[in-house]
Amino acid sequence: EKITISVIKADVGGWPGHSRVHPALIERAKEVLAEAQKEGTIIDFYVTYVGDDLQLIMTHKKGVDSPDVHGLAWEAFKKATEVAKALGLYGAGQDLLKDAFSGNVRGLGPSVAEMEITLRKSEPIVTFHLDKTEPGAFNLPIFRMFADPFTTAGLVIDPKMHMGFRFEIWDILEHKRVIMSSPEEMYDILALIGAKSRYVIKRVFPKEGHPIPKDEPVAVVSTEKLYEVAGEYVGKDDPVAIVRAQSGLPALGEVLEPFAFPHLVSGWMRGSHNGPLMPVPLKYATPTRFDGPPRAVALGWQISPEGKLVGPVDLFDDPAFDYARQKALEITEYMRRHGPFEPHRLPLEEMEYTTLPGVLEKLKDRFEPV
Ligand code: 13P
Ligand code: 13P
Ligand code: MG
Ligand code: MG
Ligand code: MG
Ligand code: MG
Repeated sequence: EKITISVIKADVGGWPGHSRVHPALIERAKEVLAEAQKEGTIIDFYVTYVGDDLQLIMTHKKGVDSPDVHGLAWEAFKKATEVAKALGLYGAGQDLLKDAFSGNVRGLGPSVAEMEITLRKSEPIVTFHLDKTEPGAFNLPIFRMFADPFTTAGLVIDPKMHMGFRFEIWDILEHKRVIMSSPEEMYDILALIGAKSRYVIKRVFPKEGHPIPKDEPVAVVSTEKLYEVAGEYVGKDDPVAIVRAQSGLPALGEVLEPFAFPHLVSGWMRGSHNGPLMPVPLKYATPTRFDGPPRAVALGWQISPEGKLVGPVDLFDDPAFDYARQKALEITEYMRRHGPFEPHRLPLEEMEYTTLPGVLEKLKDRFEPV
């Protein structure tokens, strides 16, 4: 029997500004989910924050895109928004862009990563939660987990992984997708996903012959673009992901290894700047300097045979990531010194989705031919 893991998040108000989620919102969301657990809609849940994003992690048997589970998440966000409004929190209801729920939260503002899987004898998973960045921020780390032998030793030495993996890549502007095979098409994969604002890894699948069925994802990333829903800048689409580990998949430490390099991602202040992705424990998932730098939290879980969430383990709460954090701070300082100049500020094409066009519009008439 299959179990579905759903990670659904939304920014329904920041405390203060865009810094973090107020504990009262977490409490309210917990009450809503606890009730649903009692009624049997979900098997288990955990509610947390990463920066100003309220994070719901749920297990159930209703499959992906379940109206019951999405409706539940929507209700939890609505109830938390009421609390945010009562407290006067910043941007209360920020990511709930549409008023009416119609069976699915996708396209309404929240971000979703879900996978329906046949539980293995032991099912270790990691949920990743990013703030102050966008879905393409996952391209580099997911690629390195499942395709880079310098990151994942298992690709070289584990016979179950040696054949590689398949990547489902979305063109999020044209709403198209392609499935590509690694290692055979590795350079083509990189040709696409290096352009991370447009091509994003949506899922990773095993190949024929792997112990996990070929149509079951081993990694899934949220790809919602708020700009496209709202039609204007309303914050970055702070993404989430689920990754399965061990037994023919990257080991836990191979799943985490890419985050030892704080790569540059877009987001940060006003969703308009490049900066390093800093791996942090939950206690430091509170972006402050220039509203950042962007943060990554990794929560480790074992799924019990009944589908219970055994965890979380706050995986970046380890001195082994101190060096990455220190490096991220050096990069922060270096990038900040550029002030309003590219490449700290995003290139013009990406600034289209921010508030800058409003300023440029006013200057248009001042230009004369040369
Ligand atoms: P153990 O021998 O401790 O189970 O570790 C195996 C492994 O996968 C380490 O990456
Ligand atoms: P969030 O997307 O986390 O709400 O951040 C928006 C922003 O403008 C930060 O400066
Ligand atoms: Mg916010
Ligand atoms: Mg956020
Ligand atoms: Mg975005
Ligand atoms: Mg946001």
